[in-house]
Amino acid sequence: MEGLDVRIGSLSLKNPVLLASGCVGYGEEIGRFIDLSAIGGIVVKGLYMKPRIGNPPPRIWETPSGMLNSIGLSGIGIHAFIQEKLPLLRETGATVIVNVCGETENEYEEVSRVCDATDGIHALELNISCPNIKENGRCPGMNRDATFSLVSRIRKATKKPLIAKLSPNITDIASIAQSAEEAGADAVSLINTLLGMAIDIETGETRTATGMGGLSGPAIRPVAVRMVYQVARTVSIPVIGMGGISTWRDAIEFFMAGAGAIQIGTTNFINPHVSIEILNGIQDYLVSRRQKLADIIGCCHIGPRR
Ligand SMILES: Cc1cc2nc3c(=O)[nH]c(=O)nc-3n(C[C@H](O)[C@H](O)[C@H](O)COP(=O)(O)O)c2cc1C
Repeated sequence: MEGLDVRIGSLSLKNPVLLASGCVGYGEEIGRFIDLSAIGGIVVKGLYMKPRIGNPPPRIWETPSGMLNSIGLSGIGIHAFIQEKLPLLRETGATVIVNVCGETENEYEEVSRVCDATDGIHALELNISCPNIKENGRCPGMNRDATFSLVSRIRKATKKPLIAKLSPNITDIASIAQSAEEAGADAVSLINTLLGMAIDIETGETRTATGMGGLSGPAIRPVAVRMVYQVARTVSIPVIGMGGISTWRDAIEFFMAGAGAIQIGTTNFINPHVSIEILNGIQDYLVSRRQKLADIIGCCHIGPRR
């Protein structure tokens, strides 16, 4: 269908449906269920320079309409990804976005430079919502200055499209988005998981070994829609929305709030075909209303129309 393509800096995505980081690994398993070239792109699991084991188990707990995870960014490292996983992904014709992580600004930059030099990696999603940066003990996405400093540095390290992935665990997400834009990001994506906690009342033990976890799935959707709405009214770069999208109707809500593209995360665990189903649903909706995607982006209005 025409009119579904989305521009992120110099990159043109064929449609606005992407797979979210951490919920589809490096594309191998999901690629057995869907044609990865049919969707807008795949954001692979967060990558550091070296492999990481992540947090000890238990690290997943199902909650009402969602799940808590404390995976702790386990991953194979950027070099193993490029050698072992990227060739397969390239064969599928997928648009590949690497979720870039770092324990320090230096490491973020190193991973970004490797991505910049690698054919077949189309864009970088900078995970500034990761809680492990050692330089200030907090994730850079929780602070305007840290966001500006990191995004400007990575902007200088890559010519590829740069997306800053924002944390919802702050009061004013729009000001962080503004910092990312001022520092040269081509787009922002939001939201990462919301910090949560669950406790076994028989034993008093927390349900995840690290105590807290990131909440995802339909439970967080209204928070995500609200944040997309706030951010889209503040920045002029594209906003990629996510958080609990499980049907095409949810996706339309995000577009109306101001997202130019969407990512689907947790729902892939329940239905690996969901991204294609959502893409088809979006197309049918637009055709039935004789509209283009651009017509509905940010079209929501507060309360009933008078
Ligand atoms: C198991 C799991 C692992 C995740 N790993 C990452 C990650 O490596 N990097 C990242 O930026 N976000 C990660 N996320 C966050 C998702 O990409 C997404 O922002 C969040 O889950 C909200 O979308 P959803 O409700 O559709 O899952 C992870 C989420 C889950 C559930």
